[in-house]
Amino acid sequence: MSVLGSVKRMVRRGFSARDRAMLERLGSDGDPRTKAVADAVLAVYAIKTDPPAAIRRLEAARAARAADTSPLDDGSLGPAGSFDEGVTVADACAVSKPPSQALLLYALTSRLKPSSVLELGTNIGVSAAFLGAGLADGSGDGRILTLDVSPYRLRVAERLHAELGLTSIVTRVGLFEDTLDGAIDEAAPIDMAFIDGNHQYEPTLDYTDKILARCVEGAVVVYDDIRWSDGMKRAWADVCRDPRFSVVIDLYTMGIALYSGPPEGHPTVTPALYSVLAP
Ligand SMILES: C[S@@+](CC[C@H](N)C(=O)[O-])C[C@H]1O[C@@H](n2cnc3c(N)ncnc32)[C@H](O)[C@@H]1O
Repeated sequence: MSVLGSVKRMVRRGFSARDRAMLERLGSDGDPRTKAVADAVLAVYAIKTDPPAAIRRLEAARAARAADTSPLDDGSLGPAGSFDEGVTVADACAVSKPPSQALLLYALTSRLKPSSVLELGTNIGVSAAFLGAGLADGSGDGRILTLDVSPYRLRVAERLHAELGLTSIVTRVGLFEDTLDGAIDEAAPIDMAFIDGNHQYEPTLDYTDKILARCVEGAVVVYDDIRWSDGMKRAWADVCRDPRFSVVIDLYTMGIALYSGPPEGHPTVTPALYSVLAP
C-alpha cells in the first residue's frame, strides 16, 4: 500500500483530532452523566482496535448469518409481511448496524450500565446482541426489551441470542403502534432507548415523547439513520432543539440525546462528528 493509502487508512480508522477534542470538551462540562456518555463514545475506537472476546464471537455469528441464503420466512409462523417476502437471512443481516455503529451500542451499555434498555427495531437481533454483550461485560445485569413486527426476523434473533448466551434480551412481536405502550410499561423506568425502525418524522417524535415520559433523568436515547430521509432530518432537527435534552451528540449516521428531566433551555449540540463511526 502507498504511503498516501496508509495515511488515508489511519485517518479513516481513528477519530479526527477535532472530533476527539469536541468529545473531551463535552466531557469536561461538569456533569458526570455527560462525561460518562462522552467517555463511552470516545471508547469506540479502542474497542474497535482491540475487540473483546464477546465482540469477536458476535462478529463470527454475524458472518454466519451474512452467508445464510435460506429464506427468512418458511410459512410456519403465518404469512410473511410484505417486507419479509423473498428475503433471505443474509438479506436481513445486511440491514443490521455495521461494526462501528454496533460498537457504539456496546460501548454505551458496557460503560453506562443501564438497568433497562428498550429497542425499537430488532431485525435479526444484531444490534440487540451488541447491547446485550455490553450489559454482560459491564454490569453483568440489566435487561433489553426489543420490538419488531416480523416473527420471522425475531425467530432468527432469538436463536442468535441463545447461541451467544445473551439471556438479558427479551423480544416482543407486533407493530410498534400496538406494542410500544405495553413495552414501555414493562421496561419503565427506562435508562436507555435505541430507536431503529419506522424512520419517519411523526412516528419518531411520537416514540420519543412516549419514551421520555417513562425515562429516568440522565437516560440516553440513541437515534439511528438521522439523515436517512427528509422526515428523519426534520425529526433530528427537532431533537436538537428539544428542551427535555441537555446534550445532543451528532455522529452523522446516529445521534445520541441525553434526557435532562424537566425541560430547561436548549440542549448543547455538537456538530456532526463524522470520524467516530467511520467504517
Ligand atoms: C433497520 S431494521 C433494525 C436493525 C437492527 N436494529 C440491527 O441493527 O440489527 C428495522 C426493523 O424495524 C422493523 N419495523 C419497522 N417499522 C416497524 C413498525 N412500525 N413496527 C414494528 N417493527 C417495525 C422492521 O421489521 C425491521 O426489522
